[in-house]
Amino acid sequence: MTKNKKVVFAGATLLLMVWCTKGYWTSDGNGRERVRDRLSMAYNDDRGGAIPVNLSPEAQAAFEQRERIINALKLEISQLERGCPKKKLEKYSLLPKIYAITPTYKRPVQKAELTRLSHTLMLVPNLHWVIVEDAEKKSELVANLLARTGMPYTHLHAVTPATWKIKPKEAWYNKPRGVLQRNAALAWLRANVKPDEEGVVYFADDDNAYSLEVFDEMRYVKTVGVWPVGLVGGLMVERPKVNAEGKVVGWLTVWSPNRPFAIDMAGFAVNLKLFMSKPEGKFKNEVQKGYQESEFLRHFVTSLDEVEPRADNCTKVNVWHTRTENPPLREEIRLKKEAKPPSDLGIEV
Ligand SMILES: *[C@@H]1O[C@H](CO)[C@@H](O)[C@H](O)[C@H]1NC(C)=O
Repeated sequence: MTKNKKVVFAGATLLLMVWCTKGYWTSDGNGRERVRDRLSMAYNDDRGGAIPVNLSPEAQAAFEQRERIINALKLEISQLERGCPKKKLEKYSLLPKIYAITPTYKRPVQKAELTRLSHTLMLVPNLHWVIVEDAEKKSELVANLLARTGMPYTHLHAVTPATWKIKPKEAWYNKPRGVLQRNAALAWLRANVKPDEEGVVYFADDDNAYSLEVFDEMRYVKTVGVWPVGLVGGLMVERPKVNAEGKVVGWLTVWSPNRPFAIDMAGFAVNLKLFMSKPEGKFKNEVQKGYQESEFLRHFVTSLDEVEPRADNCTKVNVWHTRTENPPLREEIRLKKEAKPPSDLGIEV
């Protein structure tokens, strides 16, 4: 960025502030277009994320200082947009868009989980929620829940064939989960996203716990961004190993650390343009246990060198692989045995 662009960028932030607080631009259509152009000009980074080579120490210091200012401004914009009315943001946000993909299926805790997740996602500016039910058809429960959020979303369904379903007494990790649902979401993205749209793709399962910071961290990822995930793999935290040069060099996990990407689904995001440029990148039912993430990511980056560590060089935890206990519904089972009506007759729980 040149000094001029920096000024434009700062100006854009100010304009956004005015626009958010005063509703200043709501009456003049041309004015809106002009602001939008200037905003997008300001945040489009023409360096493509590369650090210039062969800089003198002074130039290097100046470059780093500039990067810090830009990052601080980006963060400020995220925070400002968080307070903006959602409807306006859909059209005018200058933040790269986050496409969050959530596979879901019917179970007693489904509505509770989706309510919790939706109330997090509703706080994230410029996020489009793609939710895919593992079902023959879309349910009213999910449709109503989505409509109530007031956020941009896409509601899909894809049913898992019986051969790939987990049997009642079978361990959950025996079969891959969410493969067809995630792939349905990826196919939707490829059919509906403009190839040059700025943004990232993220897999947000409905049972995890998310800090808003994880969305700030992923938004500007240029290739594949990675970060720690708490409470996963039998550990307090699994995380990418980052060396003194700030490069990812491996994975701090105990279970199967030699996987190409020994990382949980919640621990990475893929740049949207990169995603759109590799149509073959998707999940497969026929992969070894624990290799889904590697199977997907190998299409987008060929070496760890290209991976971007986020969350302060992978030292901060902003997402947790929490698991919800199955509620003991023994009384419900007894009611059924005694041919009595269930407690939730006529009530959505
Ligand atoms: C990450 O590590 C590199 C190398 O030690 C350092 O230059 C950089 O400032 C660190 N970044 C953050 C956000 O801590």
